[in-house]
Amino acid sequence: MDASRYRATETLRDGRAVVVRAIRPDDKQAMLDAYHGLDEKTVYLRFFSAHGEPTAKELREWTEVDFASIVRLIVCLPRGEGERIIGGASYALLDRGNQASEAEISFTIEEDFQGQGLASKLLGHLTRIAQAAGIRRFVAETLLENRAMLAVFAHSALPMSRRFVNGVVHVTLDLPE
Ligand SMILES: CC(C)(COP(=O)(O)OP(=O)(O)OC[C@H]1O[C@@H](n2cnc3c(N)ncnc32)[C@H](O)[C@@H]1OP(=O)(O)O)[C@@H](O)C(=O)NCCC(=O)NCCS
Repeated sequence: MDASRYRATETLRDGRAVVVRAIRPDDKQAMLDAYHGLDEKTVYLRFFSAHGEPTAKELREWTEVDFASIVRLIVCLPRGEGERIIGGASYALLDRGNQASEAEISFTIEEDFQGQGLASKLLGHLTRIAQAAGIRRFVAETLLENRAMLAVFAHSALPMSRRFVNGVVHVTLDLPE
């Protein structure tokens, strides 16, 4: 599977169609606009701290990914002739010596679109891409207070284990072979 060309259609609970697709280098301005639309709580839950204006380096890291060690998908809502990014998810391979079978996942959904099942759908898309790439396990770190993220993991069909360390939950999800 060529993850850099990944594209799928999903439907929001209100019936609107959204596109889930691989991020591209020309998404920088749309990513910046999406970031500016997030409220502080969402940014805090995603980064575990306040996070200022994204730097040019961060924008490059977010949009210029190799789709081998990092896969990033975004959710786009059509807007006029263009589109608006309303969320995204990614996995990044973890370097465990010569074993490249574990990847860290993260998610962000804009507040107006939370609770519509988007993160669960993104987890499904990432799972399919990761499976095709031979990845065996997803890991994630999330704050204990982040009930929505923990619910997404718990409601996935993936076998899960959790470890609690200082208010942070370390989650492991085993991917089907
Ligand atoms: C966590 C987050 C990605 C979830 O995205 P989402 O698209 O709203 O998630 P979904 O709609 O797929 O599922 C949310 C689930 O959490 C549940 N939920 C929502 N708020 C909850 C709460 N306060 N307590 C318990 N469950 C809650 C929903 O009922 C839903 O469960 P369901 O599958 O039974 O319907 C989103 O809230 C977000 O972007 N948060 C800020 C950034 C963040 O936390 N990132 C994660 C860092 S790894």
